[in-house]
Amino acid sequence: MEPIGVLVLCGMCDYFEEELKKKFKVLKFSENKEGFLKENGNSIRGVIGNGVIGASSELIDSLPKLEIVASHSVGLDKIDLKKCKERGIRVTYTPDVLTDDVADLAIALILTTLRKICESDRYVRSGLWKKGDFKLSTKFTGKSVGIIGLGKIGTAIAKRAEAFNCPISYFSRSEKPNTNYKYFSNVLDLAANCQILVVACSLNEGTRHIVNREVIDILGPQGFIINIARGLHIDEPELVSALVEGRLGGAGLDVYVNEPGIPEQLLGLDNVVLVPHIGSNTLETRKAMADLVIGNLEAHFLNKPLLTPVI
Ligand code: DGY
Repeated sequence: MEPIGVLVLCGMCDYFEEELKKKFKVLKFSENKEGFLKENGNSIRGVIGNGVIGASSELIDSLPKLEIVASHSVGLDKIDLKKCKERGIRVTYTPDVLTDDVADLAIALILTTLRKICESDRYVRSGLWKKGDFKLSTKFTGKSVGIIGLGKIGTAIAKRAEAFNCPISYFSRSEKPNTNYKYFSNVLDLAANCQILVVACSLNEGTRHIVNREVIDILGPQGFIINIARGLHIDEPELVSALVEGRLGGAGLDVYVNEPGIPEQLLGLDNVVLVPHIGSNTLETRKAMADLVIGNLEAHFLNKPLLTPVI
C-alpha cells in the first residue's frame, strides 16, 4: 500500500524525522508552494505544525483529503480549529510532556533577567572585568511572582518559584479552588501586587495583549515581565518602548509576535534576555513530543482512539 502523505510545516529533530519517515511519506513545502500543492495536495492526509506555524484556514482549504492535524505543541493558536471542526478534521497536541521544560525555562529567564547573567557573560568575554566589578543586579529569592494563567505550566512555574520563597499570586478566568496562591480577577491588580509577572496562559481573543501599556506601567522600573507563552499576549511595541525608556525593570522573552523576527531595538538592550522559542527544546522532551505526534497519527489511520485529542 502507498504510504500515507503527511505534510510537515515545522522543523523536526533528527529522531522525529527518522521515526516519522519509517511510517509515513513525509512531505515538506518547496519554494513554489502553489506548484507543490497542485502536485501533492490530493495525497496529503495529515499535517504536522507547531506553536509557530500551523494549519491555517487557507492551508486547510487547499488540502481536500486532510483528515488530521497533529500539532507538535501544546499551544493551538496557529490552527484554525473552527475550520477543522466544520470539515471533521481531527486535531491533536502534545500536552504534559513539555510542562517541566517550559516551567524550567520560565525560572531560568527570571534568574538570567534579574541577575543579569547574559550581560555579565558579555562583560567577562569582552575583557571589561579587568576594568572593574560588574554592576549590581536584583535578588530573586523572596520576590513576589504573579502568574497569568494557572494551568499545568503556570502551576509548575508556581511550584518552582515557591522553592525560592516567593509569594505567588495569579490571574485566570476563574479562581482555582485547590491552591493557596492569591487570586486576582484582573491582570492590573495582579501586576500591582507582584514584582515579576509571568505570562503562562494560552492565546485566544480574550488574552491577546493581556499585558498592555497600563500593566507595564503598573509594574514600573522595579518590575519584570517573563513571557514563555505567546508573543501576542504582550503589546510588543509598548514593551519595547518601556524597556528602551527604562519604564520597566526588565524582561525575559522566549516568544515574539513575528517569530523568528524580533523587534530590532531589543537587540541593543541589556535589560532584556532573548531566547528563540526554546520552551520545550530539550532532547528528552522533543523525543516525547515526537512520539506523541507519531502515535496520534498512527492511531488515527488505524482507527484507534487518539492519544491526546483536541477535537
Ligand atoms: C508550545 O508547545 O505551544 C510552546 O510553544 C512550547 O514552548
